[in-house]
Order: sequence, then structure tokens, then C-alpha cells
Amino acid sequence: MDDLLSRLDQLQKEAEADSARLSDAALSEQFRIKYLGRKGAIPEILERLKELSPEQKREVGKRANQLKAKLEQAYQQASQRLSSGQVKASGDFFDYTLPGRPYPLAKLHPLTVVTNQIVEIFYRLGFELATGPEIETDYYNFEALNIPAWHPARDMQDTFYLDNNYLLRTHTSPVQIRTFESKKPPLKILAPGRVYRHEAINVRSYSTFYQVEGFYVDRNVSLADLKGTLFGFVKAFYGEKTKARFRPSYFPFTEPSAEVDISCILCGGKGCSLCKQSGWLEILGCGMIHPNVFRNVGYDPEKWSGYAFGLGVDRIALQKLRIPDIRLLYENDVKLLSQF
Ligand code: PHE
Repeated sequence: MDDLLSRLDQLQKEAEADSARLSDAALSEQFRIKYLGRKGAIPEILERLKELSPEQKREVGKRANQLKAKLEQAYQQASQRLSSGQVKASGDFFDYTLPGRPYPLAKLHPLTVVTNQIVEIFYRLGFELATGPEIETDYYNFEALNIPAWHPARDMQDTFYLDNNYLLRTHTSPVQIRTFESKKPPLKILAPGRVYRHEAINVRSYSTFYQVEGFYVDRNVSLADLKGTLFGFVKAFYGEKTKARFRPSYFPFTEPSAEVDISCILCGGKGCSLCKQSGWLEILGCGMIHPNVFRNVGYDPEKWSGYAFGLGVDRIALQKLRIPDIRLLYENDVKLLSQF
């Protein structure tokens, strides 16, 4: 009999707590089943009365029936409140075990990802970061880089002129001049940034794109240093199996000048549509900094030597991500961007 009485005490406490929470139809139905239903706590106790003597039966039965009446009342009141609309209906039942709703996460633009990867590799080689303005003067973009007004190389870089003196920089090389003017060698700089060219827009060229400029000035910097650095970059960026080659080229601000090609990352050099059957992909221009450039910034070309290179970020991103059209990088269509 004692165990039944203590069970009644416990039920009473539990039911008081539960009845305070009958805020919707589902909860009050759970309450009814738990205490009053056919297999509920109260019928269970009443069932067990037959184990007791008549006096015990009277005492326990009385308490059980009192509790039963109370619970029925609580249930009925809750039902009335709910049906009269005083409490929110069962549609508001919140299931805390439901999994969360995933939100689409923002991502970095492919050009940012590729720029960061390039910067990280050169950072490990001791390059420091620098930036320069996108609106430049003729002097920094051309003149100081050994490209005088009459120079045919100006045709290589169709320029957006803002007025007689200002223009949108056509490459990141003016950052070389700005750095040389404010710092003394030795220096090792990486300058990522946006550039502009007044070109016909097509699959491969757009009116704006990104470059990463790199340059190193010290005593006795040689072409071998340039080659070693760039070949090391190619291995780090594309993997050990990728081959690289220097191809002679021309830039007015470097002598000698070269372009670096890598073995095609799609066909491995056999020839495919990505490399236009050549087996090679061009990724950058480079060379040893021209003595005239050093003279223009007051460096003694007898004392200092240096190399410079300019990587085409867009081209590298398009090749690496197999994006067929440069314009896709600038349209910011989420359907494309979310794939990378
Ligand atoms: N500025 C050149 C270009 O835009 C690339 C370059 C940079 C070449 C540095 C040589 C040295 O094509």
C-alpha cells in the first residue's frame, strides 16, 4: 500500500507540472493519454486496488479518485481554453527535434580564390604585398616603364584615357615604379590588382581583368633566379607533373623578356581544344628589369638588377576551372558562382 501512496504523491507532482503546460491540443491529448487513458497512470492504480485490504482500498481509492477528478478538470479546462481560441492551436506545436534549415553560404569569387592561391605561394618565397591606383597617369603606366609616346608597344595595350593625363591602368607594372620611388632595394614585392583594356570583348578578352605583378630587385639577380622562382611557382600551383617553358618575347620594360607556358592541364601536352592543339597554355609575361626603368627611378643599373613578371589571373582561373568564356567571370550569375 505504501508504494501506491508514494506513487500517487509522485503522480500528483508530475501532473501539476504537466498541467501547467497544456498550451496546445497535442500536449493536452498527450496529457490525457498519460494520466487518464486506458493504460494511463490513474487506471493503473485503480486496477491495483484489488491487491489491498478493504480499509487500505478505501484510503488509496479515495486519494486516487481525488487526483483523477483534478486531472480531468485540468484536461477539460485546457480543452475549453483551446477550443475557445484563448491559446494557440496545435498547428503551432514546435518540434525541437526537427533538423535545421540549411542556408546557402556565401563563397569567394573564383578570381579571388585563384589570386589568394597565387599570393600564398609567393608569400612563402618572401614576397611582400603592395597595391597601386587603378586610375594612373601616362607617366607611371607607360613613360617610366620605358614606353615613350611614340613607342609602337602602346598599340599592344589599347588604353581607356580619362583625359590628357589620366588613364585606367592597362597593367599592374606601374606598381613597380611607385614602389621603386618610395623604397630602396633590396625589395621583393607582389602586387595583385585590376587592370583595364579598350579591347573588343569576346570569349577570351574583356574590358577589365586581373593581374598579379611580382618583382625582385637586389644585387646580382639573374635570369636563373627568375626561372627558378617561376618554375617553382608552376610546380606549387599546378602540381609536380606540370611542365613549364620560357618562350622569348618582348616588353619594353624588361630585357630579355619571355612568356611562360605550362603543359596543358587538360590534355597534358598531347593537344586539345583548351590549348588549341599546341599542348601549351600561356600564363604570364616576364623578364629582367630594363636598365632604363632603373634610371627613371634613380636606381643605379650598374649596382642593382632585378626581374619582374605579370600573371594573368583570369586566364589561369578559366583554365583551371574549365570555364569556357571570360565574360562569365564578370556577370556574377549565382548559378555559375555557386559551382566553385
Ligand atoms: N605588364 C605586362 C603585361 O601586362 C606583363 C609583364 C609584367 C611583363 C612584368 C614583364 C614583366 O602584359
